[in-house]
Amino acid sequence: MVVMLNYPDKKRKISYSWRDMPKRWGHSFHPICSYLAMFPPGVPRYFIEQFTKQGDVVLDPFSGRGTAPLEACIAGRIGIGVDLNPLAYLLTRAKTTPPSVEELYKRVEELRNEYVKPDITQINKIPLKIKMLYDNELTLPQLLFIKEKFSNWKENCSNADIFLLACLTGIMHGKVNKSGTSYLSISMPNTFSMSPNYVKNYIEKHGLVKPKVDVFDQLLKKVQRVYKDNQPVEQGFSYLENAKNFSRIKNEHIQNENVKMIFTSPPYLKVVNYGTFNWIRLWLLGEDIDLIDKSLKLDDNHTLSGYVNFMLDIIRESEKVLQDGGLACFVIGDVAKPGKDPLNLAEYVWENVKFETNLNLYGIVEDHLPSKDKVTRIWGKTQGKATSIDRVLVLYKGVAPDLNYSLRSKKILKKYNF
Ligand SMILES: C[S@@+](CC[C@H](N)C(=O)[O-])C[C@H]1O[C@@H](n2cnc3c(N)ncnc32)[C@H](O)[C@@H]1O
Repeated sequence: MVVMLNYPDKKRKISYSWRDMPKRWGHSFHPICSYLAMFPPGVPRYFIEQFTKQGDVVLDPFSGRGTAPLEACIAGRIGIGVDLNPLAYLLTRAKTTPPSVEELYKRVEELRNEYVKPDITQINKIPLKIKMLYDNELTLPQLLFIKEKFSNWKENCSNADIFLLACLTGIMHGKVNKSGTSYLSISMPNTFSMSPNYVKNYIEKHGLVKPKVDVFDQLLKKVQRVYKDNQPVEQGFSYLENAKNFSRIKNEHIQNENVKMIFTSPPYLKVVNYGTFNWIRLWLLGEDIDLIDKSLKLDDNHTLSGYVNFMLDIIRESEKVLQDGGLACFVIGDVAKPGKDPLNLAEYVWENVKFETNLNLYGIVEDHLPSKDKVTRIWGKTQGKATSIDRVLVLYKGVAPDLNYSLRSKKILKKYNF
């Protein structure tokens, strides 16, 4: 499929191929833990292949579960992720600094041997909404032990422990099948956490039984699944920072204007509450859910102008860290209000910032994503303002970059057998 980089005064054609990739294409590190509003790995990979070469630096200031930085590292680029959500920081860090699988197996056994069941007063302090999910004799005490052990995870934690903690967030909750479970909780969705009240009522109504599972065993199995593919050839970086200031991050590539590509999907207009929808995983990480929603939710009372100002901040930050010929690519979905025509937000943003930035327009790539494939479908009627059209606003600094070569997805797959 060929899609035009379309914009009235700029017409460039690129062969657009990620859509041809098999549905679940991607390295086995990607699904360490599900994350809301993530993009398919083929999307950043396509742009990375088209516009960068090995050794280049690729940065995502809204890295989420780390899709773009991981794709960069797999393709031999240096992937940098920035996100204000601790869960995103954890996942991106795990994916950009993975230890060897042997280290992980060894560390799980060490933790198993160190394990001492916390005393009853500690277990009693666990909120009821967490207690109702896990077997209170085996699973919950083990979880509490690990939570306490890693309570300092943001300040002081080895790459192996970060990776294990990331794997644990991925198995905190999920479906129990007839054949058993890969998760730790009563049977519930894995993608996001339903509200505590909903879960409580559901457990009572359906008489759900807490599975008695050993956390260390489940963790080992998870590591095995995640390490199905080869380790990425390159390592990267992850930062817990506000994207509005990402040019200030003390990283040599950022400080030396050495970034070749920014590839990112900025937060949508009030579609996702990252705290509320991850309250179980965030309990494990010792995080304040309300604080996360307050700091991560873009207030849509000042809707479009607020969003444009926010994007202008990010574009200006991008300008500061890009090298000459570097690109900034923003995945921006069209938005719609009920009964009104959808708005091409990517174009709207560009029209409103073009005189305020030194970056130039390369083009706007358009893609139609069937709404059933969008994670935001889970909100049904209240799915907010996201529509089925995603666009990639492509800007560049200084001299216009050339496309590397025209790729078809099968070639990418062949070249990067995991
Ligand atoms: C659309 S998601 C990105 C998902 C990502 N592309 C992936 O594949 O997982 C937007 C991300 O922006 C983050 N975010 C929102 N406001 C932020 C801010 N001011 N600074 C940094 N990150 C922010 C959210 O935590 C979320 O992870």
